[in-house]
Amino acid sequence: MNILLLGSGGREHALAWKIAQSAKCSKLFIAPGNAGTEAVGENVAIAVDDFDNLKNFAVEKKVDMIVVGPEDPLVKGVYDIFKEDERTACIPVIGPSKAGAVLEGSKDFAKSFMKRHHIPTAAYDTFDGTTIEEGMKFLETLKAPYVLKADGLAAGKGVLIVPTLEEAKKELREMLGGMFGNASAKVVIEEFLSGIECSVFVLTDGTHYQILPEAKDYKRIGEHDTGLNTGGMGSVSPVPFATKEWMEKVEERIIRPTVEGLKEEGIDYKGFIFFGLINVNGEPKVIEYNCRMGDPETESVMLRLKSDFVDLLEGVAEGNLDQRKVEFDRRSAVCVMLVSGGYPENYVKGYPISGLDKVDGAVVFHSGTVLKDGQVVTAGGRVIAVSSYGEDKEEALQKSFAEAQKIVFKDKYFRSDIGQDL
Ligand code: AMP
Ligand code: GLY
Repeated sequence: MNILLLGSGGREHALAWKIAQSAKCSKLFIAPGNAGTEAVGENVAIAVDDFDNLKNFAVEKKVDMIVVGPEDPLVKGVYDIFKEDERTACIPVIGPSKAGAVLEGSKDFAKSFMKRHHIPTAAYDTFDGTTIEEGMKFLETLKAPYVLKADGLAAGKGVLIVPTLEEAKKELREMLGGMFGNASAKVVIEEFLSGIECSVFVLTDGTHYQILPEAKDYKRIGEHDTGLNTGGMGSVSPVPFATKEWMEKVEERIIRPTVEGLKEEGIDYKGFIFFGLINVNGEPKVIEYNCRMGDPETESVMLRLKSDFVDLLEGVAEGNLDQRKVEFDRRSAVCVMLVSGGYPENYVKGYPISGLDKVDGAVVFHSGTVLKDGQVVTAGGRVIAVSSYGEDKEEALQKSFAEAQKIVFKDKYFRSDIGQDL
């Protein structure tokens, strides 16, 4: 198969690495890719939402499957756009339709979907510019801290957790007043849940599903989860509290009703579902849905997936995912993210990266890099994911930290406490 993967981050390098290992993949293109994906496939300089050029490319290169990494093209309807063009209608797109991507694109839709299908989640209500006063009253019925979420995509910044009622009321007014532009024209206010989070990933063909290895990510920039939120500073798989019994609850109460609910509502969904869960006194609840894999979770999860990944993706495309087999590597896998100094605020790009050729005990996934005159240079906040296996997470972490020392670029920073809370 000729496969076209969309995206340019660490998640996409990890997906590309796994796809390229399959005997079923004859040619892998990545649009636009990064300096790392170039080593496992061929980068194509087309943006993930340049749909006309992506379609022309897919036709010209006889692409047999499109795999979508990030949410942006999914929310913009890449699945439907390929389906509606007779030249590309027969090319399967792994990722939900625009209607399915709304699970991630609208928090209000996600919450109402969960309510309709009795899926455990925090109590909530949604408000807009015409119901501000009702929103204020609803806040008064809740206990601190207060959780306010912009309904739409806000580059990962749309969730506010505030300590006092007074601040919550002020933030509600500001959000509805356009703090996140149109994304906060509606605001979801929800009950605060206390517990440890876990990311569960499922592949579905719309009827059947297969559960992939779960992972935990580390979102804050500082040690012990302090400081600003980032795209993710590291990940660990498996997650110790995701025991067989816990995962059975997740499957019965959350995964199955979600897949069945999508089908019942006539939503075309053939792709990944990312369940952002929280463990509240042993009971799993949904914090959010995403319509794609997680980053940096994928950089651990792909290491633990033993099965032929393209075989699974083919099962999604053909609607016979139940006949494919998902096998997990029993070892632990972790990812430590090397980031640019200053991230997630201001940082400098374009610093040369050296030592990549010295890494021999880990798998290196490029997150924000480009090739400039033959030299790999930094090109983003998150730069390199250092992923390792170990008999347990401690052994894997030791390897990732040791290998992380070999990779050198100016102002490199990483968290040295990944996995310690588990
Ligand atoms: P979301 O974008 O909905 O995943 O929210 C971002 C982060 O905010 C989550 O990963 C949680 O850490 C936190 N969060 C969101 N909703 C809640 C909630 N109801 N209770 C506690 N923490 C939450
Ligand atoms: N690691 C969380 C995310 O990808 O949204």
